[in-house]
Amino acid sequence: MKIGTLLATSLLSISTAVTSISVSANEPIQPIKAATIKNAEMVELGKMLFFDPRLSKSGFISCNSCHNLSMGGTDNIPTSIGHAWQQGPINAPTVLNASMNLAQFWDGRAKDLKEQAGGPIANPGEMASTHKAAVEVLQSIPQYRTYFQHAFGSDQVDIDRVTTAIAAFEETLVTPGSRFDKWLEGDKKALNQQELDGYELFKSSGCSGCHNGPAVGGTLYQKFGIYHPYQTTSKVEGRKAVTGKNTDLNVFKVPTLRNIELTYPYFHDGAAATLEDAVKTMGKLQLDRDFDKKETDSIVAFLKTLTGEQPNFKLPILPPSNNSTPKPAPF
Ligand code: HEC
Ligand code: HEC
Repeated sequence: MKIGTLLATSLLSISTAVTSISVSANEPIQPIKAATIKNAEMVELGKMLFFDPRLSKSGFISCNSCHNLSMGGTDNIPTSIGHAWQQGPINAPTVLNASMNLAQFWDGRAKDLKEQAGGPIANPGEMASTHKAAVEVLQSIPQYRTYFQHAFGSDQVDIDRVTTAIAAFEETLVTPGSRFDKWLEGDKKALNQQELDGYELFKSSGCSGCHNGPAVGGTLYQKFGIYHPYQTTSKVEGRKAVTGKNTDLNVFKVPTLRNIELTYPYFHDGAAATLEDAVKTMGKLQLDRDFDKKETDSIVAFLKTLTGEQPNFKLPILPPSNNSTPKPAPF
């Protein structure tokens, strides 16, 4: 009996050791897998819609305006610019790897990508259209109806289908193949000593307690300002806006750190201009640690190894409007 248990335990540890040769099973971060495309025509349609500014009132703002896929899926400004040059209240998070988030938005108020995608179209401070008006535009364009036919089996256009297609496209926006993933998968030369030191510090100081999983974030909600309060002029409340609880004030979804080198400026208010700033603030507020320059630089060097292969596709060419398409109202 005792020997049997011993044997079983040692067999178990052998099999764990074997798996850790291919993928480091004990690491808090796992490699990103390439997207598997289930319905290629749906993804193509979603891509067109993502790039189509006619979903906005002005005919000028598309999802890609604020989630620019040439710039890490963000707009690289502190808070976004919406319809009629309105100043947005919050920083645009990246759409890259967003499919891995436990919920969408900084406060998690949308349960998934499909639910999220309906928001900006009708948000007066963003695309400022309505679901009805956006659908009317698409419906008026015969080529679009053909694409809906191919993706859904009938040419009906409605907001449910629009958001389903956009979400299907967004699910393909994953970024595998980063140097860090190569290292995780066994290429021990993929990282240099400074980057490895940074990763060790990232784990030993406690960053990975919150930023973990394949997306290095997106797996839980946490307070911003655990040891010291975060000073900001932003009026954003975090999870409190969703739950109504005072204890959820300044609680946010832990953001992904994948491609963080590309998605500056940082934090929900966009107040940290550099990655060095963001790392120092995190150390102080979340862990009560003052990193010196060498420590900060090594964590930053590690974080830059999380930049993966960016989405690579042909720019979609959108079918033109025609005489019956409702006109944009830019001014
Ligand atoms: C005017 C700029 C703007 C436009 C246009 C825009 N977004 Fe966003 N997006 C934002 C901002 C700002 C947030 C964060 C809002 C919040 O958390 O309260 C956001 C959040 C998101 C998120 C959540 C990501 C996460 O990590 O939580 C996704 C996904 C997303 N947008 C997709 C889209 C799609 C799809 C479209 C087009 C239908 C779109 N956005 C249009 C600015 C924009
Ligand atoms: C207790 C949980 C927690 C710990 C520990 C933590 N973070 Fe964070 N991190 C967060 C949250 C929550 C945010 C979002 C803050 C906000 O609202 O802007 C964040 C944001 C960030 C950002 C900015 C991301 C962006 O897209 O704007 C970076 C970079 C970052 N953390 C790095 C680190 C590093 C490096 C460490 C370790 C020194 C660390 N974090 C430790 C919870 C944590």
